[in-house]
Amino acid sequence: MKAIEIRNKYLEFFKKHGHVVIPSAPLIPENDPSVLFNTAGMQPLVPYLLGQKHPEGTRLTDYQKCVRTNDIDEVGDNRHLTYFEMLGNWSLGDYFKEESIAMSFEFLTKELGIPVEKIFVTVFAGDEDCMRDELAAECWKKAGILDGHIYYYGKDDNWWIAGEEGPCGPDTEMYYDTGKEPCGPHCEPHCDCGKYVEIWNNVFMEYFKTKEGKYTKLQQRNVDTGLGLERMTMLLQGKETPFDTEIFKPIMDKLEKLQQIDSIESRRIIAEHLRSSMMIISDGGRPSNVDRGYVLRKLIRRMIRHMNKLQIDLNKVEELVELNINTLKEMYPELEKNKNIIKQTIMEEKDKFVKTLNNGEKEFTKAMNKTKQEGKDKIEGAVVFKLYDTFGFPPEITKDLAEENNMKIDMQEFEVLFKKHQEKSRQGSSAKFKGGLAEQNEMTIKYHTATHLLNAALKIVLGKDTHQRGSNITTERMRFDFNCNHKLTDEEKQQIEELVNKWIKDELDVTVQTMKKDDAIKSGAECMFIEKYPEDVTVYTIGTVSKELCGGPHVKNTRELGTFKIKKEESSSAGVRRIKAVLI
Ligand code: SER
Repeated sequence: MKAIEIRNKYLEFFKKHGHVVIPSAPLIPENDPSVLFNTAGMQPLVPYLLGQKHPEGTRLTDYQKCVRTNDIDEVGDNRHLTYFEMLGNWSLGDYFKEESIAMSFEFLTKELGIPVEKIFVTVFAGDEDCMRDELAAECWKKAGILDGHIYYYGKDDNWWIAGEEGPCGPDTEMYYDTGKEPCGPHCEPHCDCGKYVEIWNNVFMEYFKTKEGKYTKLQQRNVDTGLGLERMTMLLQGKETPFDTEIFKPIMDKLEKLQQIDSIESRRIIAEHLRSSMMIISDGGRPSNVDRGYVLRKLIRRMIRHMNKLQIDLNKVEELVELNINTLKEMYPELEKNKNIIKQTIMEEKDKFVKTLNNGEKEFTKAMNKTKQEGKDKIEGAVVFKLYDTFGFPPEITKDLAEENNMKIDMQEFEVLFKKHQEKSRQGSSAKFKGGLAEQNEMTIKYHTATHLLNAALKIVLGKDTHQRGSNITTERMRFDFNCNHKLTDEEKQQIEELVNKWIKDELDVTVQTMKKDDAIKSGAECMFIEKYPEDVTVYTIGTVSKELCGGPHVKNTRELGTFKIKKEESSSAGVRRIKAVLI
């Protein structure tokens, strides 16, 4: 079965069981500045898991594009991927363990035809926060899981949360027995030897973990499940790695033809990073030196470096993009649509990197000669770091060059300096994400205040249950997403504009105060991510028209904004509309 067939079967199956198919959210979360990329199907659904009503109801299913980069350095082995697709189904306060488990079992055995002997499951063993999940185990037995195929594990294995705080709960995981020999007498599903492969995770999300580590009950009991598509495809096709499936096979074969030097690891890195980069660019990502842009830059540069290593002509990258679009366009039609920008972005980044490599090599030669003159054979870690930090020259290449010249390098010292640098940039980026504005200048600050006014105007014109779903500001315009089930009429748009412009003319003061989060919410302040704010929050108030939890900054008085004009109103996703507006 091909990946796209598994995806379609999945969505159809859950549709048959009363779920509404919702579209995949973009890889780059529009309404959540605190994460770089969507890392799980549940991420765009957090507000609904916390109790907000979803416009499509209480049973949802989708395929979600995800990027996880914590294991980026592992890519090249037989299983790690930075981009992957997660199939998911959700109950938002609707069904719970029994129905969820029964559906999973039916899908695996009937729809995918996996023999029951091959399925193993794990459930939560219980601890002081939450009891042993005997109910899940009972449900599995009832569904038909064989005796001896149920294992109990603690929080390390059978508890799911995205990050440190947020909605969470015990989960039950399904494993596929590949039939390989056990690695020893204690070989079990959670063992890493490769005999058992995790295929699906159903989270029974009824808790909320606070930053302080306390668990509270959520308003409703949810189910959040995630099934990794590439992995399932590989298993059903009896392949050893995802690189042997139709998703990667054409590009892997092409690389084998093009390479002058053989390395399967490098081929996998190129194939994997190319697909991730294309998906990120297609969803609006661009290379830069910070945050998301930096991850994309790293993916592209790592790919180029490995093309270099295999001695593949770097201009061939354009051909590789073409080939990959052809391979993947059935699954992701957006790749075909965004073909030009994908090609252009990758080619430009390649050119920049080639320049960096050339400059870096010159600097390396200078540093090496100096070291030799001093009668030493080991290049200092500080030099390696400077090459990296100032010239963007990857330490791995410094190491290769040093070896070629019979020199050593002090990698230990480099690591120390690198860690310090990482720590600093982490602090920098978390400080920035607090405010949610990537770039702050006079114009973006004005737009930020206009965003609050627009939010308030929408509540008056469309109803008080209208809330922000996303916001994006550049120096040229503001973009604002909000829940609404209809295309705005001309009258509505006019009313909104008039209200915002009236408030600008009224010369309202913008004031800020620090409050306890709970008090701020009780006082009626608007906020998007209750769980994402610290205990002490800043609240911005504009006259008597708007009060929002917000990191700022804002203008001092609305008269600074000029005139507000709506440029466009369009659909953003199901039940969400988008307004693009300017200040003139
Ligand atoms: N959120 C869970 C996971 O990512 C289930 O979807 O595994």
